[in-house]
Amino acid sequence: MSRPLLFAANWKMHLGPDEARAHLKTFRARYNRREHQDVWFFPPAVSLEAAAQAVRERTDLLVGAQDIYWEPKGAFTGAISAALALQAGARATLVGHSERRHLFGETDEDTRRKVGAALAAGLVPLLCVGETLAERDSGHTLAVVVRQLAAALGALDRAALPRVIVAYEPVWAIGTGRYATPADAAAVHKEIRTWLQGHGSASPRILYGGSVNAKNVAELLAEPELDGVLVGGASLDPEAWAQLVQGGAA
Ligand code: PGA
Repeated sequence: MSRPLLFAANWKMHLGPDEARAHLKTFRARYNRREHQDVWFFPPAVSLEAAAQAVRERTDLLVGAQDIYWEPKGAFTGAISAALALQAGARATLVGHSERRHLFGETDEDTRRKVGAALAAGLVPLLCVGETLAERDSGHTLAVVVRQLAAALGALDRAALPRVIVAYEPVWAIGTGRYATPADAAAVHKEIRTWLQGHGSASPRILYGGSVNAKNVAELLAEPELDGVLVGGASLDPEAWAQLVQGGAA
């Protein structure tokens, strides 16, 4: 049996409710369920409910939030809690995406709180880690990634850790058209896997993200260290996304 693959679409600040419905209608028509393969969608918060409704009859498709705030409720204008995301139909949430870290100043400590809040509410946290170009060039890739893992996940108990999925997304590869070679990605994935296994996650799922497209997905997923991909730009067009998801398992 081949390993289960996860294809995650990060729509970022694109696709409102009507557009999300239309996207998923086309996607559902173009993509039939495949064994051992799941497709997750991370729409903007305003489209969560529409997207969740649009996939409700497909158990292989799931919707998640792009970000949550760790407090359960209260006077936090503009934020959504894990419970609110859940109510809108989310079953997972991204945590610590590089745009949250670098554009919105999210810290390692914030990611720890968000992972905890997601788990407490029953959302699957998909923790994103990755180094900047300067960090890579100075040979600090593994140190940065391990620091991000330790900060976000180090205090979790061993029973909770297996519920966390990690995405390795080198910052220099996101939206740039430059992607890590499968061998480079695999070296980092190995380090992440060793860390997660050492902390109690027996068979962790680790995705690669950063300029994945229909042309490079097969090459990337031929590397067994990659359990799937997290895709931004190439997930926005439903036909192209269906092609990518099909091409990955070819
Ligand atoms: P990209 O984005 O596929 O557009 O590079 C990936 C991501 O930010 O998750």
